[in-house]
Amino acid sequence: MIKEILNKTSRKTIAIIILALLLLCSFGTYKIFANSTGKEINMSDKKVLIAYYSYSGNTKSVAEKIQKLTGGDIFEIQPQKPYPKDYSTVVNQAQVEKQNDIKPELINNGNVENYNIIFLGTPVWWYTMASPVKTFLTKNNFDNKVIVPFCTHGGGGASSTYTDMQKLAPNAKVTEGYTSYENSAKDSEIQKWINNLNL
Ligand SMILES: Cc1cc2nc3c(=O)[nH]c(=O)nc-3n(C[C@H](O)[C@H](O)[C@H](O)COP(=O)(O)O)c2cc1C
Repeated sequence: MIKEILNKTSRKTIAIIILALLLLCSFGTYKIFANSTGKEINMSDKKVLIAYYSYSGNTKSVAEKIQKLTGGDIFEIQPQKPYPKDYSTVVNQAQVEKQNDIKPELINNGNVENYNIIFLGTPVWWYTMASPVKTFLTKNNFDNKVIVPFCTHGGGGASSTYTDMQKLAPNAKVTEGYTSYENSAKDSEIQKWINNLNL
């Protein structure tokens, strides 16, 4: 009788152990996990850069969320001559820059040489990327790199931002982008987007 109970108990214990092991294995192959570095997405085998330009902080906030999730290095694209604080003045200046394909000088052109994956963020300016991002794309060599674009906009969506990025870096692989309205980006959406890219 006791033997039988013991047998039943040990069978149950073995079944629980097997189930636990199976669960552990499936978690191991799943991409999202809180690893020992506290990062949410495991990209330890990739060199990741998050480069962004932001005029009023929305794109910067997305860049920082991506940085926290991936643990990559972060680089702020900054024009040598800061844009005017007055909104309508900057809107007019950006229009002139677009019409004349002006690429303003940067404080630092950055260096993408040591990175495989470059997240590249911009506000949408006149239906495309902001001019300092154009400079960044032309001053660096993106051949065989993966560009993961993201942008924030004021209601018009990404427009031709991502296709224009591909034009300025024709030998890069430009992935699907993450597009958000003003300051509405969500960590959960960003995480889902990155995981779906299978970088
Ligand atoms: C010069 C300028 C041009 C803009 N052009 C557009 C546009 O074409 N389409 C759009 O949806 N939003 C446009 N916006 C709104 C910005 O894309 C939006 O506010 C963005 O989130 C700002 O990002 P930031 O805070 O990182 O600078 C424009 C804003 C500025 C300053």
